[in-house]
Amino acid sequence: MDMIKIKQSTQYISNKISSVPYVGIILGSGLGSLISEVENKKTIRYSEIPNMPIPTVKGHAGEFIFGRFRGKDVVMMNGRIHYYEGNSMQDVVLPIYIMKLLGIEKLIVTNAAGGVNTSFKSGDLMIIKDHINFSFSNPLIGKNDENIGPRFPDMSHAYNKELIEIAQDCGRNLNIDLKVGNYFMMSGPSYETPAEINMVRMLGGDAVGMSTVPEVIAANHCGLKILGISCITNMASGILDKPLNHAEVIETSNRVKDKFNRLVSEIVKNIK
Ligand code: HPA
Repeated sequence: MDMIKIKQSTQYISNKISSVPYVGIILGSGLGSLISEVENKKTIRYSEIPNMPIPTVKGHAGEFIFGRFRGKDVVMMNGRIHYYEGNSMQDVVLPIYIMKLLGIEKLIVTNAAGGVNTSFKSGDLMIIKDHINFSFSNPLIGKNDENIGPRFPDMSHAYNKELIEIAQDCGRNLNIDLKVGNYFMMSGPSYETPAEINMVRMLGGDAVGMSTVPEVIAANHCGLKILGISCITNMASGILDKPLNHAEVIETSNRVKDKFNRLVSEIVKNIK
């Protein structure tokens, strides 16, 4: 991690905002509509921030939204940076370290994912209890800066237990059925083959996707408390007899966005 780069980017942003965000929220594919509920909004486009990569994927705008949301100061990432876009793992996680330096203590990461567990259905929301890094890379490879975090970070509680409990309570209170499971990262951008999905299931994955894991490793590295939520936008390859495509992913996230927004709102309200 290059602290000089991180500080440069952070400085640019902190000159433009007047409050310290407490919760960071990364909005996954098609899940950006939550930003309309932010008050006193201040938008900073990634393209104006030194060192920040710019997302190229449909459904991912590229902007930080700062403001008040359910009584807390927040920063939302409307659009994330993916590994499969050709970015280095370090670039993928730069925004995590920026948000940490800006002051966040909690991070909510959301994503669109394929359902691998056959008891899931398209449109379900899954609380991530753990992950499997099958990207064959790691954002922490390279020189470590002890000012940011340890060389060998513990990952045995990467997803915070209290935040999971808060999320589950919120689900119960709102009558939203929540699945719980392991998120399995593949690099993409091709979707998986049916044989790969069988492997994912055998290895313990409940949902499969192309993001989140690098960010969660970095967030864990710098001591953030993390909650992960997957929106199951489709059943994974080979489960239903139909081809996968990004249009379906966006269509499903659009269909469940009200449920998703209500859940995330309630969670932010209840986070201590
Ligand atoms: N596989 C990988 N990533 C995904 C999927 C999928 O089926 N759906 C949404 N993101």
